[in-house]
Amino acid sequence: MNLDELGGLRAAANAALTAATTSDELKSAEVAVLGKKAPLTLANQALGSMTPEDRKSFGAAINAARTDVSETLAVRRTSIADVERRARLEAERLDLTERFDPDLPGRLHLISRTIRDLEDIFVGMGFTVHSGNEVETDWYNFEALNFPPAHPARSMHDTFFLDLPGTDGRMDDVLLRTHTSPMQIRVMQGQKPPIYAVMPGRCYRVDTPDARHLPTFHQIEALVIDRGISLGHLAGTIEQFIAAYFGRDNLKVRLRPSFFPFTEPSAEFDITCPFCGGAGCRVCSQSGWIELGGCGMVHPNVLRNGGIDPEEYTGFAWGFGIDRLAMNRHNVEDLRVFLDNDLRLLQQF
Ligand code: DAH
Repeated sequence: MNLDELGGLRAAANAALTAATTSDELKSAEVAVLGKKAPLTLANQALGSMTPEDRKSFGAAINAARTDVSETLAVRRTSIADVERRARLEAERLDLTERFDPDLPGRLHLISRTIRDLEDIFVGMGFTVHSGNEVETDWYNFEALNFPPAHPARSMHDTFFLDLPGTDGRMDDVLLRTHTSPMQIRVMQGQKPPIYAVMPGRCYRVDTPDARHLPTFHQIEALVIDRGISLGHLAGTIEQFIAAYFGRDNLKVRLRPSFFPFTEPSAEFDITCPFCGGAGCRVCSQSGWIELGGCGMVHPNVLRNGGIDPEEYTGFAWGFGIDRLAMNRHNVEDLRVFLDNDLRLLQQF
């Protein structure tokens, strides 16, 4: 081997290192140009057959070549590491300016919010709140409330019966409650008077949906039982409640004589139509009034069915439509929108 050939090996080694572009490639190139079997390493074997002077100068030339190649390797290593580090940082970059739309979190449906608002008002007036069964028996939904079997008042409740055996295995006994009134009996069974209770919840009737009717709807029942309770207490409590819920004092309240089997006397309860202020419009069918529900003095038979002596206690009760309260308070003209799941409406509340 002569110095020219050595120069060729050195140039080839530098070229191999410069051609490597990743740290893995550089590692293989390093083994190939500086490892035990690399031509530059094997060049040492030529020293054995040289004269001492030649050996000295050729040995120095080999060392100089190795040093040069090692420097090329070091420079290459730094620059590849730098490129690779930049690529990694770019791939791991976090965009700290990213933000999420603050309107995305969910919210309560208007009906759920209305139930909470109503509960707040009644708790403020000293009432307790009870939630109740949506699946009832005929006795709780009708008979205990003084609707005997085949009583004509039952025909106003188009009832969903469940295909389940009820009392004595009867198949016409278990039903979806048609009103929250069965909770009157359950509350009386659960506590002694005085009772000041409200019972909000879902009710079901076989109804064709229209602007003011849905087959699934919500009522809030009230039951007050104490000594000396009169119709005056009923009217005063309703007025107080309407002022608190609607937050305005220009709404008139009226009680219209009516019939319910479980109250005597009974009344329907109306407020001035909040859409037209009483002048008459489409929503109130030109009457100027909106019916919110029924009320009355609890019938002595109902008190007895709840285990309370009607000679000692009297009471009043009511059942109002929660969906209608919400629609009148928030100017929603059609109940069906509550079930449409249209975000354009739901997000307004
Ligand atoms: N439960 C009756 C209905 O859904 C409404 C009602 C009327 C409830 C008079 C009452 C009441 O508590 O006293 O038609």
